[in-house]
Amino acid sequence: MQDINLKITDRNGDLHEIVAPTDMSMNLMEVIRSYELADEGTIGVCGGMAMCASCQVYVGEGVEKLREMGDEEEAMLSEAFYVQDNSRLGCQIPISVEIDGLEVAIAPYP
Ligand code: FES
Repeated sequence: MQDINLKITDRNGDLHEIVAPTDMSMNLMEVIRSYELADEGTIGVCGGMAMCASCQVYVGEGVEKLREMGDEEEAMLSEAFYVQDNSRLGCQIPISVEIDGLEVAIAPYP
């Protein structure tokens, strides 16, 4: 297993180049929380169940590395605020070697 590099822009527009482990069964929302890139209570509100959209991110470089959206993710994004064509739910993006180099920006808190 190896670590991967991610570029995450926080809600203030600051870019963070971070390293995330692929062997801890984490998802992108949990990585954002562990690096405290969003205020506590404003991300991961539903615990990663695709039911709150507080973990919404806009995907930049590397979008082709992501798995297709699942039904629950698609349903949540269809009713969330601030959704763009490149929106995804961070809690539905597993940290794996496939997404090394991914760039995302955290969407506004809903
Ligand atoms: Fe609630 Fe991702 S943490 S939808």
